[in-house]
Amino acid sequence: MARKILIAGNWKMNKTASEGADLAKAIVVAAGKSTAVEIVVCPPFTALESVSKILEGSDIKLGAQNMHAAASGAFTGETSAGMLRSLFCSYVILGHSERRTYFGETDAIVNQKVLAALKSQLKPILCVGETLAEREGGKAFDVVRTQTIAGLEGVTKEQVVDLVIAYEPVWAIGTGKVATTAQAQEVHGFIRKLLIEKFGEAAQRVRILYGGSMKPDNAPELLAQPDIDGGLIGGAALQAPSFLDLVKAGATAKA
Ligand code: 13P
Repeated sequence: MARKILIAGNWKMNKTASEGADLAKAIVVAAGKSTAVEIVVCPPFTALESVSKILEGSDIKLGAQNMHAAASGAFTGETSAGMLRSLFCSYVILGHSERRTYFGETDAIVNQKVLAALKSQLKPILCVGETLAEREGGKAFDVVRTQTIAGLEGVTKEQVVDLVIAYEPVWAIGTGKVATTAQAQEVHGFIRKLLIEKFGEAAQRVRILYGGSMKPDNAPELLAQPDIDGGLIGGAALQAPSFLDLVKAGATAKA
């Protein structure tokens, strides 16, 4: 089954509202009508509105980097799915390793967010991935299995097709140490197998992105793998030229 390649930029805690608008403008001008690849940009909360305005009328989708599972209430500093929808977000990154490590997000919390996002028609990009110690201890597959199964608890076959998984080995994030193509495909194939066990045929429609030091030079080989359906890009998404090169790599990857 052909899955449309998805190239998503996770800007993390970078770009003010106006800097974000400038970056979005450059991406829209060059790739605003890209139909070969689905493009998503995920600015920080404070730049969502300015970027949303720039993306209007283009094919580029907006995503957030986190959200709270509750619809509203006394949760100082938090943002709900409905608030993100009101700014025309289509996607939300959930369970990023930086959220898990620095903000104590457990699999149970991530799962609540996944369910809340789906209920509000936001597509979750559920991040999973092992640390270096876990990989060296032979636990990479156990960790990925636990995070994937726990994160998807209660998700139905009908819902899962709207969901995206991002495999981000923690040791490859921002380190310049990319997973080898074989390492990445092995884990992606493993995730696909887990999804097939849980969801049957619907699993073939779920996109599994790779994240972790993906750059224009290593992307073509990674994206050519059968179970790598796109990238979740950090550093290389912060400048238009490198992000656009990744979009180009996505367009030709499966040719
Ligand atoms: P880098 O591309 O900077 O390694 O970041 C990857 C990432 O964490 C995307 O969510």
